[in-house]
Amino acid sequence: MSENNLGDIGLIGLGTMGANLTLNIAENGFKVAVHNRTTSRIGDFIAGAGSLREQLIGCETLEALIGALKKPRSVILMVPAGPIVDDYISALRALMDADDLIIDAGNANFHDTNRRAAGGEPFLGIGVSGGEEGARHGPSIMGGGPRDQWNRVAPILEAIAADYEGAPCATWMGEGGAGHAVKTVHNGIEYADMQMIAETYGIMRDGFGMQPQQIADVFNQWNQGVLKSYLMEISGQVSAAIDPQTHRPVLDIILDRAGQKGTGRWTAIEAQHLGVPASVIEAAVAARNLSAQLDTRKTGEDIFGAAPLPVDPEALTIGTLENALIAGKIMCYAQGFELLAAMSGANGWSLPMPDIARVWREGCIIRSTMLNDMATALQKQPGVNLMFSDFFASRLRETQDDLRATVSKAAGSGLPAPALSAGLSYFDIMRTGRSTANLIQAQRDFFGAHGFERIDADGAHHGPWGAGG
Ligand code: 6PG
Repeated sequence: MSENNLGDIGLIGLGTMGANLTLNIAENGFKVAVHNRTTSRIGDFIAGAGSLREQLIGCETLEALIGALKKPRSVILMVPAGPIVDDYISALRALMDADDLIIDAGNANFHDTNRRAAGGEPFLGIGVSGGEEGARHGPSIMGGGPRDQWNRVAPILEAIAADYEGAPCATWMGEGGAGHAVKTVHNGIEYADMQMIAETYGIMRDGFGMQPQQIADVFNQWNQGVLKSYLMEISGQVSAAIDPQTHRPVLDIILDRAGQKGTGRWTAIEAQHLGVPASVIEAAVAARNLSAQLDTRKTGEDIFGAAPLPVDPEALTIGTLENALIAGKIMCYAQGFELLAAMSGANGWSLPMPDIARVWREGCIIRSTMLNDMATALQKQPGVNLMFSDFFASRLRETQDDLRATVSKAAGSGLPAPALSAGLSYFDIMRTGRSTANLIQAQRDFFGAHGFERIDADGAHHGPWGAGG
């Protein structure tokens, strides 16, 4: 094959994300050599690529893929996270030159990426967010691995990424698994954002007795203001959609059991591992787990009765709910960025917090206008907990009463709002100068002689509780 006919980059894995990413790369003028384990898919994919067909080279074997690429080669893996990635890495390494690059673009666990990167061979782990549509027309890309390897493929990744006012949403986050770590926390936040929106939906549906179309109108209205975001936009769309078979609102016929691939859980695990509070995200993950326990919940309904009490629309207005969601969202992101800071320290990275907020402004699932304010706040006040930043502290002063009203009215009516409640508790704990942990310390000292610090003297002390102390 002449040099001109060789691919600029290879891609393995023509599932929805891989196929769309390939078309995106091809549309941006690069030649892509593609391979898929089920080889019949390769021909079908190329045949369906329309005018982009010219930019694609179908390769039935890994050997053919390697032979079809310009040197030094770069190959993107877009395959399910886990051992399949390791299998492909070993198979490719056996065929590649020492300076050839492998890029894992799946939703890998960043600990795996750290391990894979430790071998020293050129390897990048990139988090790609934006679902099908994003992959095709502009995802948000969070890169990790050696900086020089990132620089090598940055022209392609920046060209295919979404842009925010001309700035590409593709950024190098740090060495090793830094990119996948940022993507993991993105997904944890995604879970919490979705859950909090669902909680306001629950209050409107079960507390106010509103119909899906009315709820859609509210979401659409919220999407014009501070809450403007992709998830709010699609919440409006799904709430308004009608099922063609039954002509009922689609939301009414969807089973209330949410799936998950696990990245939200990884965020909660990491938070626990590092001892960082991520209670809003944890509540969202727990809510997904509980959603899966459909039969158990039905049993509970039989035992305790379900019907939530109506919420007095005078006591809790749509505007109150909107502010509650704003406050809950600030708390969720405050925790997310605190977690990222801890992950950064634990892994020897210098994760660029303002850049993370910037790269999430477009292309990814959690994109929102609020992220632009977060980027500004994190730039202006480096290292600040977002909820204490001047901008968001002032926003919290305006909205925290409404979060409190929403959580308390929801609780009073028997409507679960675990993520919003967790956000409120975080807020209240974070502004409590003297907490109740003095009692915990006394208990620890009593049963385990663990000692405690005094407010009026240095050193370790014990209580006057005899043998236990
Ligand atoms: C994205 C998403 C994506 C995620 C799916 C499903 O950023 O594009 O986070 O990567 O895999 O949205 O995630 P769950 O199955 O865990 O809900």
